[in-house]
Amino acid sequence: MSVVSVERRLDVLVACEYSGVVRDAFIRKGHNAVSCDLLPTDFFGPHIQGDVLQVLDRRWDLIIGHPPCQYLCRQASRWIDTPVKRILFKQACAFFLKLWNADCECVCLENPVPHLAAKKEIGDYSQIIQPWQFGHDYSKKTCLWLRGLDFLEPTEIVQLTYVTTKNGRRYTRGWYETPRNTKARSRTFPGIADAMADRWG
Ligand SMILES: C[S@@+](CC[C@H](N)C(=O)[O-])C[C@H]1O[C@@H](n2cnc3c(N)ncnc32)[C@H](O)[C@@H]1O
Repeated sequence: MSVVSVERRLDVLVACEYSGVVRDAFIRKGHNAVSCDLLPTDFFGPHIQGDVLQVLDRRWDLIIGHPPCQYLCRQASRWIDTPVKRILFKQACAFFLKLWNADCECVCLENPVPHLAAKKEIGDYSQIIQPWQFGHDYSKKTCLWLRGLDFLEPTEIVQLTYVTTKNGRRYTRGWYETPRNTKARSRTFPGIADAMADRWG
């Protein structure tokens, strides 16, 4: 008896993504992927511009989310120092948990390393990955919270290169050469997106 494997097209929601990088990696693998963000998409493709919470309860096979990290990451802990910022922190945790608790069997949320108070609220991550494990000359600890999904395996280890400035400061080249704006720095690395599509698609 021969075994016929049938590949199934997955319905993938990429939450909080304007770049379309993860969406397009899944589309290249033949899946139905749609990104959703309050912002328009950078590249033409299936995109819902609006609040992702409004589309969470559609039937998705896989949800990959990049919720805002402004109040959750380690660097933020230093300046959550007013009652208003504490409320914003609580709201960021609640948003993260709504994505995490979506009615979907497979969920991956991605964020930088959280500070202790955030970790207490949103729970511990499953895995830490680095762009240099996926073909990029860039160091940035990236945490994945995984439900119903395997760990990502490194696909291409890159030796980091460095830049020394005139005043003697040393930076990793990838970080130094990336424009200093939030949008450029929050875009998902294509090597990581391809690894997600290979592994989970
Ligand atoms: C850290 S960025 C992630 C960017 C992503 N890695 C990419 O490559 O496009 C977080 C994103 O969450 C979006 N966002 C925040 N609240 C949202 C909501 N309620 N619904 C949809 N997107 C939201 C922001 O507009 C922002 O683009």
